[in-house]
Amino acid sequence: MTVVDLPPSGDPGDGHGRQERIKKMIQDALRDEGLAGFGTDDSLLESGSATVKEIARPQKSKHSKGFQQIYGYENVKRQITRHLINPLKCQDSPFFQEPARGVLFYGPPGCGKTLFAECLAEELGFNFQQLAIGQTIGTKWMHETSNNITTAFETARRSRKPTLVFIDEADSMLNHRGDVQHEGKLEEINTLMQELSSNQNGNIIVVLATNHPEKLDQTAIRSGRIDLKIQIPLPDPETRDTLLRRLIVDRCKESSAIGNLDVKHLVNITEGFTVSDIVAMIQNTIHIALERNLIQLNDDLLQEACFETRRSLTEEQIQYYNDLESHIAF
Ligand SMILES: Nc1ncnc2c1ncn2[C@@H]1O[C@H](COP(=O)(O)OP(=O)(O)OP(=O)(O)O)[C@@H](O)[C@H]1O
Ligand SMILES: [Mg+2]
Repeated sequence: MTVVDLPPSGDPGDGHGRQERIKKMIQDALRDEGLAGFGTDDSLLESGSATVKEIARPQKSKHSKGFQQIYGYENVKRQITRHLINPLKCQDSPFFQEPARGVLFYGPPGCGKTLFAECLAEELGFNFQQLAIGQTIGTKWMHETSNNITTAFETARRSRKPTLVFIDEADSMLNHRGDVQHEGKLEEINTLMQELSSNQNGNIIVVLATNHPEKLDQTAIRSGRIDLKIQIPLPDPETRDTLLRRLIVDRCKESSAIGNLDVKHLVNITEGFTVSDIVAMIQNTIHIALERNLIQLNDDLLQEACFETRRSLTEEQIQYYNDLESHIAF
């Protein structure tokens, strides 16, 4: 937290000058805290209803932890909090509910599965340990992944602090067992399933992530092993609105650089964008603004950057992810 030392009131610049200097110092302090663009520019607050004026003062600072770093996706945060975080933190409550020990995050690429896993560990105060299964699977090191799994769980069990074990690209390992060609792969699946089943004491949470939930072996992810399955979808209009506003503010040192933007229109033209696409679009906007020596963003500029940004998903893929629930059996 930054402390602002106010200039003494007997200073030569007393009166309006002093006020201005204090305002500037507060702006500088807000910027240092990652809150730039807020609070002191009245024009930002007065503009029309579909403009950036509705950006709420963010809770985020560069020191912030946990879900505060995730823009939007309030429904996903609510589900995780209800089914996992609250049951784990219920020591002082008269109620008891067994928390989920395994969680699956599924959904399109670039929409925050890894970010949610990292932030969940922070929310819980757990260690974060990632198992990169995808790269070693089916290689000549037949038992390597299996050994890695055992080692990861052993390390987690020995650790004084509870651990979140994150397994990315889970479909590359836990795909339908009927498809399994490779003896080593079967061993990996069995090792992981044993670890999941014996993980009873709540000190280890396993989070799996996949872009292809329909490929997962149902036995491996049945309740009792992976109790909670949460879709992290393409950002809906509400989340796109929050993302756009927050990302724009993050990139503007002064609130005056934001301009009077029609966020509603931006939300419409970014339909089908992943979060990574929206991040890239805002980066493109800033690149263009720097190239043209602009001092303020405007709608045309953002629209231009939007059209320049390649969407990562095709129409079919967007359709697939929008209908995802109908492709999966859990
Ligand atoms: N809601 C969000 N708010 C802020 N930043 C986000 C959000 N979601 C994702 N990001 C950022 O977007 C990028 C992509 O997110 P992430 O890597 O977590 O996606 P993913 O779903 O794990 O992708 P993949 O399937 O490719 O592994 C990261 O830089 C991440 O920090
Ligand atoms: Mg990821």
